[in-house]
Amino acid sequence: MYKIKTVSELQSVLKQVQNQGKQIGFVPTMGALHEGHLSLVKQAKDECDYVVVSVFVNPNQFNDPKDLEKYPRDIDRDSELLSTVHCDLLFAPGIEDIYPEEDTRKFEFGALETVMEGRYRPGHFNGVAQVVSRLFDYCNPDKAYFGLKDFQQVAIIQDMAEQLNCTVEIIACPIIREDDGLAMSSRNVRLTQEQRKNAPVIAKTLFDSCNFVSKMSVEELRNHVMHEINLTDEFKVEYFEIVDGKTLQGVDNWEDCNYIVGCIAVFVGEVRLIDNVIYKKR
Ligand code: PAJ
Repeated sequence: MYKIKTVSELQSVLKQVQNQGKQIGFVPTMGALHEGHLSLVKQAKDECDYVVVSVFVNPNQFNDPKDLEKYPRDIDRDSELLSTVHCDLLFAPGIEDIYPEEDTRKFEFGALETVMEGRYRPGHFNGVAQVVSRLFDYCNPDKAYFGLKDFQQVAIIQDMAEQLNCTVEIIACPIIREDDGLAMSSRNVRLTQEQRKNAPVIAKTLFDSCNFVSKMSVEELRNHVMHEINLTDEFKVEYFEIVDGKTLQGVDNWEDCNYIVGCIAVFVGEVRLIDNVIYKKR
């Protein structure tokens, strides 16, 4: 596996790869890798000839400086894990490589960014779009892989790729969970033992709530989920939205559209976790 830090080295290696007619798959990450990330790499390896993974903790997408400071970093471990899944190239740039000058671009995502993560983390998706558009430029991939754990992020990236006329195909991949249901996240290591023990209540409540779709209204189910999770010590739901999976706008009735997803953000102490569940997809 190649390990590369600068954009010029990256581009010179990828030029050769492209000249050989190889399809490039790209997986952007912020490191602290786990099986969720590795599942994207495995899928990319299955579908492409050459797989590039980036590890870059992007300061522009953190609206909370404490979250940025506490974000776990371990590039040696990341590199070892990536070798085990036969990643071809690890791109681990420094801030000066990605942002030699400040990025002042303002992206517009309309109603897609005024809800959920966009609403509670102002500027977050602008920062995500800034870094991902740069990484797409540098790697020029045929396919790029994103996890549905960050449901809204996938919609934003798809919209961004359309706006910028990127030729890259965006591939959305399933959520990988711990055995007890907790969605894998780099932030899980920040949970105390007690918080970690209780954390599966989020996924469990979401899964159980799928059985109530025929019995409760959207509003009743929404209140029920928030109530159940808030009962747990140190757990505070920031939002739970039941939305149209395409437009991400809230739905009032289960019959309103064919694709309905419940997206949640929960503070567990100081650690903010997100998850989602599909209620309906036809
Ligand atoms: P990060 O949180 O490191 O996640 C990198 C990719 O892994 C994202 O596409 C995310 O959805 C996916 N992922 C994380 N946990 C997952 C899980 N449990 N199951 C499946 N996929 C999972 O998302 C980002 O970084 C950044 O915003 C980034 C796109 C790299 C831009 O900086």
